[in-house]
Amino acid sequence: MREFRRVGVVGCGLMGSGIAQVCARAGLDVVVAERDAEALAAGRSRLVASLDRGMRGGKLTEEGRAETLRRLAFTSDLGDFADRDLVIEAVAERRDAKALVFERLDRVLADGDAVIASNTSSIPIVDLAAVTARPQNVVGVHFFNPVPVQRLVEVIPTQLTAPEIADQVAAFAERRLGKTVIRAKDRAGFVVNALLVPYLVSAVRMLESGVASAEDIDAGMVLGCAHPMGPLRLLDLIGLDTALSIAESMYEEFKEPLYAPPPLLRRMVAAGAVGRKAGRGFHVYA
Ligand code: CAA
Repeated sequence: MREFRRVGVVGCGLMGSGIAQVCARAGLDVVVAERDAEALAAGRSRLVASLDRGMRGGKLTEEGRAETLRRLAFTSDLGDFADRDLVIEAVAERRDAKALVFERLDRVLADGDAVIASNTSSIPIVDLAAVTARPQNVVGVHFFNPVPVQRLVEVIPTQLTAPEIADQVAAFAERRLGKTVIRAKDRAGFVVNALLVPYLVSAVRMLESGVASAEDIDAGMVLGCAHPMGPLRLLDLIGLDTALSIAESMYEEFKEPLYAPPPLLRRMVAAGAVGRKAGRGFHVYA
């Protein structure tokens, strides 16, 4: 089975920094890209904070932390990805932004057999494959937040993905990164978000219609159903802006009211209350 050794990650936000961290901890040489020096510095700090958390929990030694950081290189130039054999795109959940990255990567990657994967939750992978000259080497690989903690990866081949490429990427996620893989068809939301998003937007509608407070809605699902966190706190973790984009893509794909973003979600995003990363969302964070 083909081994991917030189990995690239485009985007060092919540998901990209987690993916880069997990790859570097697995012993891989990783290059991470962000659009400018400021975004790179923020992404690097996020990654270091997550490593520090691993150290506090006893899962990582001082030496392991230093080793992981040594395997990571940061750049704002996608030209530095020329020698990569697998690149995982994790930029904002917008089709135009992702398509631009795919177009550029396709031109930059020297190896015609290098694989380009997207961490999108809801944008059809085939739309991204179609802007490249290597659609057989494009696949979805969807991680979950926080990436170092959640064990699942969804692997999504399109109608154009070569079967062996999907198998190679699935083997990489399982054997190299230690994740568990499930496979899904190229439909917005795949498996997890197709089930999760209607639940999350229902919680926002419940709050909007005044059925219960945010605290009580969350306590209901934590204490009543043993979920690790309630739906509104989970939205804060995902980021309300990201959740809004996902719900919009899913609504666009299926035209089902159960995916339609509620007005309150739009208003909170407009107000900048996008969750934990902003210090406030449905809850307030120190
Ligand atoms: N980086 C590294 N490690 C982290 C971490 C991070 N960002 N966040 C938490 N951890 C580790 C902690 O270090 C801790 O490790 P130890 O047990 O070794 O101490 C462990 O995870 C548990 O963390 P905490 O004790 O701080 O907190 P917790 O027990 O309340 O768990 C949680 C926090 C892991 C976030 C948990 O509440 C949880 O799993 N929540 C559900 C998250 C979820 O559903 N994610 C999926 C979202 S959907 C998605 O991502 C896909 C999409 O497309 C939108």
